[in-house]
Parts: sequence; C-alpha cells; structure tokens
Amino acid sequence: MQLLKIYYAYFSPGNTTEKVVSHIASSFQNYPVESINLTDYATRQEDYYFKENELLIIGVPAYGGRVPAPVVDALRHFTGSNTPVVLVATYGNRDIDDTLIELKKNVIDKGFIPVGAASFVCQHTFLKECAEGRPDEEDLKMAREFGDKLKERLRLLVTYDAGDLEVPGTFPYTKPPMGEFPFKVETNEYCIYCMLCTDVCPVKAISESNPKDIDSSICLRCGSCLRICPTQAKYFTEEPFKVLQEKLSPLCGVRKENWYTIA
Ligand SMILES: Cc1cc2nc3c(=O)[nH]c(=O)nc-3n(C[C@H](O)[C@H](O)[C@H](O)COP(=O)(O)O)c2cc1C
Repeated sequence: MQLLKIYYAYFSPGNTTEKVVSHIASSFQNYPVESINLTDYATRQEDYYFKENELLIIGVPAYGGRVPAPVVDALRHFTGSNTPVVLVATYGNRDIDDTLIELKKNVIDKGFIPVGAASFVCQHTFLKECAEGRPDEEDLKMAREFGDKLKERLRLLVTYDAGDLEVPGTFPYTKPPMGEFPFKVETNEYCIYCMLCTDVCPVKAISESNPKDIDSSICLRCGSCLRICPTQAKYFTEEPFKVLQEKLSPLCGVRKENWYTIA
C-alpha cells in the first residue's frame, strides 16, 4: 500500500513511551509525520479522523495491566476508515497483561486495522531500580528495527483483516480498569504553591486554587506531580507504596525482553 501520512500518538507522563513510539516512527522519516500527545488534556478532547492510506502508531504504558483510562476516553474521539494501526504497550518489567488486547479491541471498534504490535520494557514509575534506564540504546535500536520492518511490510501489504493480528492478553479482561492502587498522592509542608503540579497533571486531578486538594478518584498515580515538584512536596502515601515497591523489587535484577509482531 502507498502511505500518505504517519501519525504517532502516545500517552506518556514519564516520557518513556513517547521515546519508544517516536523511535518506531523515525523509520518513516521520508513521509509527513505528525505526533499526537495524548498526555495533554486538551489534545484528548479533539476529534481525529484518519484515512485509509494513513498509518497510526499508538503507544501507551500498561497501568495495572490495562490501557490507561484517559486513552480509552481519547479513543472515542478517533475515527479510522480501515486505517492501519500499530499498537505499542510499554511496561515496567512486570507484565502488560491485557493492555494490548484492550487497545486492539478499542481501535478495531473505531475503524482501524491492527498491522503490528509491540511491547517494550521501560523504567517502572513506582521503582526506578526496576528496568532502570530503559528504554536504553539496545531497546531504541529494536524500536527502529520494528519501524523498518513495518515500513517494508506495509509497502507490500495489499489486503488484511482487522482480526488477523494476535496479541497477548485475555478477554474478558482479568484486571480492573485503572488498576487497584491503595495509595494516594499526598502533599507535605514544603509545598510553595507554584502550581506546576496542577499544570502538569494529565487528568486535572489537582485543584487550580489549592495544589494540596487532589481528587484521588481521578488521579492516575502517574507520578507527574512528584517529578515536577521543585521542593519534593508530593509523595505517595508511604506505607502502602512501600509494600508495592517491595512486591516489585524481585523484578529489579531481571532484564525482560521486548517483543513485536507484524501482520
Ligand atoms: C499507575 C501505574 C500503573 C502501572 N502498571 C504497570 C503494570 O501493570 N505492569 C508493569 O509492568 N508496569 C506498570 N507500570 C509501569 C509503567 O507501565 C512504565 O513505567 C511505563 O514505562 C511508564 O510510561 P511513561 O514513562 O511513558 O509514562 C505502571 C505505572 C503506573 C504509573
């Protein structure tokens, strides 16, 4: 098929998913390429229409083994017309569980045809020693290799069917949406009311008038506010967070491998 344009979309509060997806897209540098940053609240409210001869590459982190809820909402604004799509899940060395199968189902419902899928290991948001420094050079090389192979395959591809691509996961999903995280974001006395956390929160969970006022029912636990805070005033509720870190710690010494498939 003759592609006319490439889009790469990502939800990436910690920027690792963006890195992986942009490296896959870099194989298509001789095409017009447009990025869609789904971490941005306003971008997620926009409607997007994709044509048959365009390619969408979409990347999301596994959140509790599922697609992050804001991406599920954003996809309601996407309309494909038998548009080929490449699905990418990143994860912090534990598992993607049902992330890819959920992403696949959601894009097929919106008129896309999955032609490739991948999972890439990225440093875990909750424990930096878990897959620390990933994606590293080797991972990014593999992302480019995946992109090159996709480009070649799409050039030769004539007909393909939405259900053809096999991805890991089970339906009905085994994990709840949004994950189950028994800890919240809390704020200590070092808060200087600079409002950077309010600005960076991808779901507007932090009040615009009081950064200590956080709506835990919509907070994703993505850690954006912890990373941006200049005074380290934000933290996850200590005890349950430590318990989760302890559960993850056996995964720290293990180098899990990336995976991809092409239709
Ligand atoms: C709320 C939340 C849930 C997560 N759930 C999982 C998970 O189920 N499995 C896993 O291996 N990693 C999990 N992670 C780790 C992320 O998938 C991983 O760090 C990812 O690379 C973050 O992407 P980003 O840097 O683009 O935000 C989770 C991280 C967060 C913040």
